[in-house]
Amino acid sequence: MILRWVCAVALLTGLLMGGTAQAAGSAEREKLLSDPGVYATFAAFQMKHEWWNLTGEARVIAVSEVKGLIEQFSSKIVVETYLLRGLSDHADFMFRLHARSLSDNQQFLVSLLGTRFGRYLEAATYLQGVTKPAAYASEFSDELKAALKGQAEVGARPYVIVIPIRKDADWWALDQTARQALIQEHTQAALAYTPVVKRKLYHSTGLDDFDFITYFETDRLEEFQRLMRALEQVKEYRHVRRIGHPTLLGTLSPLDDILESFAR
Ligand code: HEM
Repeated sequence: MILRWVCAVALLTGLLMGGTAQAAGSAEREKLLSDPGVYATFAAFQMKHEWWNLTGEARVIAVSEVKGLIEQFSSKIVVETYLLRGLSDHADFMFRLHARSLSDNQQFLVSLLGTRFGRYLEAATYLQGVTKPAAYASEFSDELKAALKGQAEVGARPYVIVIPIRKDADWWALDQTARQALIQEHTQAALAYTPVVKRKLYHSTGLDDFDFITYFETDRLEEFQRLMRALEQVKEYRHVRRIGHPTLLGTLSPLDDILESFAR
């Protein structure tokens, strides 16, 4: 019995020491995270209570299977992981998956749910989106474009906020010039926060119940809160019909740490 436990720990340690289970080449990883036409799935899960009734050995074996699965999909998918437990009542942890085909994200999640670990997962929220070329920013003045260049530098474990958004029909009825002017105002109101808030926009119309998934990383939550207040004051915000529900708040955490905390 003790021998089996030692072997299981050795197996997990081996997998954990094997480095991060991310997409194959770092160049492809960067492209998946920056190219348009990439599908993102946000999948948040809760651990069922029965998980904590398993023996330590059984939990270690179950977790090692997940690591193997991520390795298996690593040439097609960038997998990022977030700890939500303790900050969000919606879920314990979340995957953000990026792939060129949404069915790759689906295959990964189907396989995950088929693992021993997966049996103890309760899906809390799935959000689907796709990245697109900028609809407005390309027409901004050179000055505004220059001010927007570069992304904030955040620490290794920033806070992460995911906010889905739906706009009203009046927004979509506006012509491009009118929308352009309103988004420019949105951008100017937000500009001061670019050094501390990293952002990414996904389009969800038709894929989900929302029009957009907005994703942010920051070490400065009080600045993020001020940013939200500033954006609530611009005219574009009057076209926001639904914001959040759910808002997901967590911390970017290596999968090893999250799974280890679930294996403890
Ligand atoms: C550093 C802060 C931010 C900056 C600099 C910023 C800037 C921008 C820019 C330039 C666009 C236009 C993208 C395009 O050309 O397609 C945009 C779109 C958008 N932003 Fe922000 N933003 C910030 C924060 C936020 C926040 C906090 C939210 C809400 C939670 C938000 C929600 C949106 C949405 C929903 C769109 C898409 C609008 C549409 O296409 O109708 N942004 N933002």
